[in-house]
Amino acid sequence: MKFQNTLSFARELDSQDALAPYRKEFHFPKVNGSEVIYFTGNSLGLQPKRTKAFVDEIMKDWRELAVEGHFYAERSWWDYHERLAKPLAKVVGAKPAEISVMNSLTVNLHLLMVSFYRPTKKRYKILCEEKAFPSDQYMFQSQIKFHKLEISDTLVEIKKREGENFWRTEDVLAKINEIGDELALVLIGGVNYYNGQVFDMKTITRAGKEAGAMVGWDLAHAVGNIQLQLHDWDVDFAAWCSYKYMNSGPGNASGIYVHERYLNRRDIPRFEGWWGTKKETRFLMQPEFDPMETADAWQISNAPVLAVAPYLASLEMFEEVGMQALIKKRNLIVSYLEFILQEIDKEVESSFEIITPQDRGTQLSVFLHGEGRPLFDYLMEKGVITDWREPNVIRLAPAPFYCSYEDMYRFGQILKEGITKK
Ligand SMILES: Cc1ncc(COP(=O)(O)O)c(C=O)c1O
Repeated sequence: MKFQNTLSFARELDSQDALAPYRKEFHFPKVNGSEVIYFTGNSLGLQPKRTKAFVDEIMKDWRELAVEGHFYAERSWWDYHERLAKPLAKVVGAKPAEISVMNSLTVNLHLLMVSFYRPTKKRYKILCEEKAFPSDQYMFQSQIKFHKLEISDTLVEIKKREGENFWRTEDVLAKINEIGDELALVLIGGVNYYNGQVFDMKTITRAGKEAGAMVGWDLAHAVGNIQLQLHDWDVDFAAWCSYKYMNSGPGNASGIYVHERYLNRRDIPRFEGWWGTKKETRFLMQPEFDPMETADAWQISNAPVLAVAPYLASLEMFEEVGMQALIKKRNLIVSYLEFILQEIDKEVESSFEIITPQDRGTQLSVFLHGEGRPLFDYLMEKGVITDWREPNVIRLAPAPFYCSYEDMYRFGQILKEGITKK
């Protein structure tokens, strides 16, 4: 398609957009009386309007049924979280039994490392990307200390090449081969939070498994953004948060995936609690843990239903729309945004550079040359909600559920004004 940097062209794309009606399903904050151009769905997705009804339902059941709500609410609480497994399995390409929703992301990654990072004298190394999301770095360091190993000897980072802004798959594979039978775990952010790069999860998973390691993925920036096939890729485990592209609210519940080969096994070490034990016998209050036959065996506490409810509301929307339609729009809207950026770059003295490689989802990371911060502040003042990452990067993630092509055009105009005024 030949794009044009005009309002009429952007509106034409909007008029052909099958997902356009979903924009009205979200609450948009306002700046200077107008709805913002929201680029931070990769940080906190907008609130779907239907979420309130899901939360209100629980408040009402709590008010009117109190403890009886556990079993007699229309959507009973004791198994509330189980309702998420089926729709979520479709989003991540897994079997429903392989999915559970609980806790928050870093907590879940820690719990999964308890099960899947079992260092031995020979096989103990962890492979991750350099500058992984800080919470993951702290997690790796603390896990390594917990196992009384040396961080410098245990944690291996895949570097980008000198002068390049992205990781090369061949470098990841070479590292896996180099570490060989010392490699215990590969755990990488499937979509990098900083440059928006999508790792070749299928190829890397295969290589990690061939080396005899466990392979897990932090999918915070991948879920609801790119097509995942966790089961078919033979991924061992994964976890993600629900507050970015899954639009489930700040700090909200996390999802986990555990490959079915690890279900129904009592030999897997795991930190356990009563919500992971079989429902049929849970309330017999017996001393022995009898694990659920699904990934729910990793559940520990009774589910925080007030937090899980917005996730269920969001998944209802994902069920209606499907990942395929979201990805189709994502590809077009990101390409249009890229085109707009390139056009503005031609019109003004070149002052920024897209650092996201072609293997991407919905995020474009833009490096601002010179003094970037005043430009970022200008965008925010004008109602363009983006975010700033040191030293000079803004991240633009037009979520296909609610961003419009007109947003992309208007953003380009505001960006141009901001650059020329600098
Ligand atoms: C890639 C990645 N990993 C981990 C986290 C930490 O998430 P949480 O605070 O929910 O544990 C985030 C948060 O944004 C993230 O982007």
